[in-house]
Amino acid sequence: MRQTTAMVYHPNNPDLRANPWPTYQWLRDEQPLYHNPGAGFWVLSRHADVSAAWRDPALYSSDHGPALEHWAPDASATMGFVAMDPPQHTLHRRLISQGFTPGRVRHLEPRIRQLTRAYLQPLLEEGSLDFADFATAIPVDVISELIGVPVADRPLLLQLSRQIMTRDDANGRLTPAVRQANAELASYYASLIAERRARPREDLTSALLRADIDGERLAERDVIATLMLLGVAGNDTTAKLLTTAWRCAWQHPDQRARLWSGELDVGCWVEETLRYEGPSAYTARRLTRPTELHGVVVPAGACVLLVIAAANRDERVFPAADRYDLSRDTSRTLAFGLGQHFCLGASLARLEATVVLQELVRAVEADYEVDLAAASWAVSPNVRGHATLPTTVKR
Ligand code: HEM
Repeated sequence: MRQTTAMVYHPNNPDLRANPWPTYQWLRDEQPLYHNPGAGFWVLSRHADVSAAWRDPALYSSDHGPALEHWAPDASATMGFVAMDPPQHTLHRRLISQGFTPGRVRHLEPRIRQLTRAYLQPLLEEGSLDFADFATAIPVDVISELIGVPVADRPLLLQLSRQIMTRDDANGRLTPAVRQANAELASYYASLIAERRARPREDLTSALLRADIDGERLAERDVIATLMLLGVAGNDTTAKLLTTAWRCAWQHPDQRARLWSGELDVGCWVEETLRYEGPSAYTARRLTRPTELHGVVVPAGACVLLVIAAANRDERVFPAADRYDLSRDTSRTLAFGLGQHFCLGASLARLEATVVLQELVRAVEADYEVDLAAASWAVSPNVRGHATLPTTVKR
């Protein structure tokens, strides 16, 4: 339903967790360029505008500098090369891609299946589970195997990455607990790097230390930043995507029946969930020169938020965009970004989500139940999904 009264948009507003969609519609339809002067940012929310911004990195810089300072002062703490521009970004991305190869990702498939079955078995016997806990454990194990984190250290990694994703809602400042967790994680990776320098293995950490383009190498601090980014970005987003897919299918029994009967492929479930309610709500850019947008000249240095979740519900691109429809064309989804910063882990996230959901369809009856009243949302403003999602299953 169209909202006509004046609204305010701030991504940290906890009221947006349960139902951000009317606000996003208002932004797209009535405020295609929105300005929040108090918070000091501008907002683009239409599919065309968000895509155009991603395609023009010279105008929309990822090197936020002071642009985010005002309302998210500590945002760059875990960003690594996401917050770089060319040519620095190009070099870093090429070096990191030497370790994070499609082959390395593809080889993980049997292991993801094995892990899912192992986690699922006791839960099926009990008949009830917190789906969010289940969904978090698998990506942590997968990214840990990729990086080369020993099994004994994984609970620590899980605990630290959970803490890091919990920002202070009100002002974007990192809480002391988050700062502490960042420092602990950085020192953990520093010791892992020291071990791999002494005894290289066939893991991503060793590959990052070896990466070389015409004599250019990653400095130790870049390897640490990359491992931190992969650990955090890789765990939480994929886990949250799984929670949302599970809840959305439960809320749409007609769609669920098509999945369990085999009429639709699980890949459609993953893609439509990414579009309809993907984990990444927005990203930020800094404008490098004064630019006219929707008739307003936005000054150089302005922080511009690209609201991915709003663009993915844009009726101008996706007919009946508010309908969860597993057979729709999702090829223009922006869930993983676009252009040179396109998500490096997209193929891993898609593989993990597909394998886990395939295993669930195989092992669990279609008439599972979600206790929505007892569910809770993730507090991080940029990672949409559930922190708890109590579920009962039959097999
Ligand atoms: C970048 C979303 C999973 C690693 C991005 C961006 C988005 C995104 C929107 C672009 C950010 C920007 O342009 O500012 C997601 C979603 C995921 C997911 C929705 C899960 C469903 C992963 C995984 C990994 C990963 C599993 C790694 C293990 C990265 C990295 C970048 C990135 C390294 C930065 C790329 C660059 O700046 O060149 N992701 N991501 N992501 N993502 Fe993901």
